[in-house]
Amino acid sequence: MMSLQASSNLTACLALVVLTYSHHALAETTNDQANTAQSTGICYAAEIMHGYKCQEYDVTTADGYILSLQRFPQGKTGGSNKQPVLLQHGVLVDGMTWLFNPANQSLALILADNGYDVWIANTRGTRYSRRHVSLDSSNPDYWDWTWDALVAHDLPATIDFVYEQTGQKLHYVGHSLGTLVALTSFSEGKHVDKVKSAALLSPIAYLNHMTTALGVLAARAFVGEITTIAGFAEFNPKGEPVANFLKVLCLDPQVNCLDLITALTGKNCCLNTTTVDLFLKNEPQSTATKNLVHLAQSKLTIRDGRLAKYDYGSTDFNQKHYGDSQPPVYNLSNIPHDLPLFLSYGGQDSLSDVKDVEKLLDNLKLHDVDKINIQYIEDFAHSDFILGTTAKDIVYNQIMAFFKRH
Ligand SMILES: *[C@@H]1O[C@H](CO)[C@@H](O)[C@H](O)[C@H]1NC(C)=O
Ligand SMILES: *[C@@H]1O[C@H](CO)[C@@H](O)[C@H](O)[C@H]1NC(C)=O
Ligand SMILES: *[C@@H]1O[C@H](CO)[C@@H](O)[C@H](O)[C@H]1NC(C)=O
Repeated sequence: MMSLQASSNLTACLALVVLTYSHHALAETTNDQANTAQSTGICYAAEIMHGYKCQEYDVTTADGYILSLQRFPQGKTGGSNKQPVLLQHGVLVDGMTWLFNPANQSLALILADNGYDVWIANTRGTRYSRRHVSLDSSNPDYWDWTWDALVAHDLPATIDFVYEQTGQKLHYVGHSLGTLVALTSFSEGKHVDKVKSAALLSPIAYLNHMTTALGVLAARAFVGEITTIAGFAEFNPKGEPVANFLKVLCLDPQVNCLDLITALTGKNCCLNTTTVDLFLKNEPQSTATKNLVHLAQSKLTIRDGRLAKYDYGSTDFNQKHYGDSQPPVYNLSNIPHDLPLFLSYGGQDSLSDVKDVEKLLDNLKLHDVDKINIQYIEDFAHSDFILGTTAKDIVYNQIMAFFKRH
């Protein structure tokens, strides 16, 4: 029935955690090591595993988070139009998620081979973006944020940086939470002068119909019984508090924790087992527990089905933070009607449910018809858009054709 983005994320997280625990030694690099290590992991994968040139950059947000960005300035084959493209991953994963497939199935490398200047973002709190100008990631204050902060700080810092480095407007590709932060930003009129177009895969805005049992449970836990995990500002899927939290959720007979990827993301049609193994060795990544609470709010405390900023839980606190007893609403109908948008969604996606996507599309119904492309793929679920073996033929070729038109 319903789900929440939060719940979905949470669910994914949980699933991943459990899987990670049961089938793999804990990830080779702990988060603390990653703090001090050079953020070479993604470039290492691109250069050593795939043979692509890669550059590392740091970007500091207005609120002090130091984010790592990787750039593939050229491919191994193909043209050199050098049009920048920024790839933004979803929640509980990081930029590595674009590199688990063979090169000719990985969106980032396909774009590089087609002459694009490819930039990979890494959200605050993930292993290569855990530095801050003054806060250590072991400090709970480091984790005092929700996706509102990604809208307010991470996305602007990243887009401005790519724009300044390249002197060009960029194309944007987002998956999952990477679509939510873009849609809400655009609805506030942000970045539309620096973004040529946006491709949104498994778009999430509304989470009312999320179908994952685990997601729904997690959402309830986050909104109603946060005590389970209270005191843990960092939601670290590889940590013990989260594992315990998941164990409790998995006691529910409706939740099949043995196949959590399916339980969380839907029946993906086209995953390669080698790719899934690699995925599970690398992901999931930490996020702020508060971020998951915010996502859970959008499912369970839905006010007229609106999409809103973080609810502090009392009219007094909201008044203090927002000058209003209710959190401000993000109105997606305000996305500029001439901003080129490509949306691709799947019929088996239990996080980005078809009914929720339809609600999003309803918000976009006044969009200029020649500026919007909508693709529906009956047998795709949430992960197929990034990891699916057929995604190049079905989705990525369409994205590149769309970029060429805009
Ligand atoms: C699955 O991944 C492996 C390793 O990257 C690759 O060699 C193989 O060709 C892939 N299989 C398919 C069907 O794409
Ligand atoms: C990817 O490359 C492999 C060989 O490296 C080839 O067999 C396969 O057909 C290619 N797939 C696509 C989608 O081009
Ligand atoms: C969103 O904006 C549209 C037009 O700008 C307006 O008609 C609609 O009532 C707004 N929705 C909300 C929930 O504020």
